[in-house]
Amino acid sequence: PAGQDSDRATGAGQPAPRRYRSQDWFDNPEHIDLTALYLERFMNYGVTAAELRSGRPVIGIAQSGSDLSPCNRIHLELAKRVRDGIRDAGGIPMEFPLHPIFENCRRPTAALDRNLAYLGLVEILHGYPIDAVVLTTGCDKTTPAQLMAAATVDIPAIVLSGGPMLDGWLDGELVGSGAAIWKGRRQMAAGEIDGEKFLDIAAASAPSAGHCNTMGTASTMNALAEALGMSLTGCAAIPAPYRERGQIAYETGRRIVEMARSDLRPSTILTRDAFLDAIVVNAAIGGSTNAQPHLMAMARHAGVTLESADWMEYGYDVPLLLNMQPAGKYLGERFHRAGGVPAVMWELLQAGRLRAARPTVTGRTMADNLAGRESGDREMVRPYAAPLQERAGFLTLRGNLFDFAIMKTSVISDQFRARYLSTPGSEGVFEARAVVFEGSADYHARINDPALAIDEHCILVMRGAGPLGWPGSAEVVNMQPPDALVRRGVMNLPTLGDGRQSGTSDSPSILNASPESAAGGGLAWLRSGDMIRVDLNRGRCDMLVDDAELARRRSEPAPPVPPSQTPWQQIYRATVGQLENGACLELALQYRAVGQHLPRH
Ligand code: FES
Ligand code: MG
Repeated sequence: PAGQDSDRATGAGQPAPRRYRSQDWFDNPEHIDLTALYLERFMNYGVTAAELRSGRPVIGIAQSGSDLSPCNRIHLELAKRVRDGIRDAGGIPMEFPLHPIFENCRRPTAALDRNLAYLGLVEILHGYPIDAVVLTTGCDKTTPAQLMAAATVDIPAIVLSGGPMLDGWLDGELVGSGAAIWKGRRQMAAGEIDGEKFLDIAAASAPSAGHCNTMGTASTMNALAEALGMSLTGCAAIPAPYRERGQIAYETGRRIVEMARSDLRPSTILTRDAFLDAIVVNAAIGGSTNAQPHLMAMARHAGVTLESADWMEYGYDVPLLLNMQPAGKYLGERFHRAGGVPAVMWELLQAGRLRAARPTVTGRTMADNLAGRESGDREMVRPYAAPLQERAGFLTLRGNLFDFAIMKTSVISDQFRARYLSTPGSEGVFEARAVVFEGSADYHARINDPALAIDEHCILVMRGAGPLGWPGSAEVVNMQPPDALVRRGVMNLPTLGDGRQSGTSDSPSILNASPESAAGGGLAWLRSGDMIRVDLNRGRCDMLVDDAELARRRSEPAPPVPPSQTPWQQIYRATVGQLENGACLELALQYRAVGQHLPRH
């Protein structure tokens, strides 16, 4: 069509130009009146009609950084290098905001925003003239939200991680983000530090721009995005302030233009093999328990069947290879210097644990990407044959309290193992008296109440913390023991709940229980004082309450659920599924590849 040849950027050696979806807006001879309307307002900041009618791909940059998203704020700078790369490769960048998702500050929980940002990004990518997109990831849910949307829309997409903060140091010791908070709370409960010292520790753990420098949910989800094949090789672990971060931003910008030209879409990359590899990598890096709902949500939006049983079948017997907090010692800078995600995956590939003959955004297979990526730092990335721990994946449990829950075995401390899992003759099995809390306010109000008589034989139970109950599902299940027990050196009691816990927590909690109490799960009928039996060998967790008594309790009122406070909370509750299935907006799953169907004029 007229106008296409005036400014064509594709040169010799490029694939033959294809017609992009943006041309339906900007270069449509059958609707020149509409094209005029679509073009005119972009010109008011200096873009020319010739550029927009040149047949170049329009590349979206989903900007996740803002003052409300401090973990991702580095992307405001990195986007300049992404734009440079897009321009140099012959594309036209268009940056737009993603709904902010800030893990630490959003009440009642950032989990509500994963699905809201997902919805918003789907609408943007479907309804605007965007041919391909750079997803700028960082803080926990910014990664799954954008990958879920890219999978739904199915236009070419690439992940650019913002990178972790520099390592934190205080008094000559490493202090990791999140992990320092949990430790500081225990130290304060034990009377070892005061509030001012706690603030110093928190500040020291966050020394620069970037997301959490521990293997919390942020580093986990960025690592898994790379493991899925959705980012350039080595992208996830580069610390935010490092030179290489700006450089890979530029390369990512260049690469997405090539992906637009060859129409390399998420549906080609996000296969079942990719998700099974992500489960394996998650175990080897000691990844966050939030990987379970997020991977499930991404898989379902990609149209990939992932079963709850896959976590045990493919992930449980994978050894812990990465020595990073909270499962290990070190932080993100050393992870990057040790080779990052490719170094861990190289080990897994040699051991035959990956399905790496699969496509990635680089245009090569994962196996090709990993060639020559062996780590030179064996304190940080252990050889497969000499790991930090054998069988480091998630255990999945079921019983009369729930149909599904997970436990992160790589953070079970020696103290916890000795106290609860080492009874001669019944190793891996323990019974404990339930102390039930209705949400975190109830926990904080009563945990130190002497009338509860909490001791080492108790299990702390949190309900009302799932997707419907909270709403959104909160990171509150890693409950600290009462101060009196902490002062006696009891750092962890068994805990159980229908909410989640922070990926930076070192608590071996039983998490993500589905169905949750507010959905009529068995947790709703538990009473303080009931005995709970946990059998890790058989993957069972049951309340020792007989059926007649349970039937009687079911005739009583269910635990109260707070009302929705905003319109979105109500919509979320009306559409969300359980954590076992990724806490997706269930009705969204019927929409697939919507970018292939243009909306009407
Ligand atoms: Fe945002 Fe940890 S709180 S990355
Ligand atoms: Mg978190």
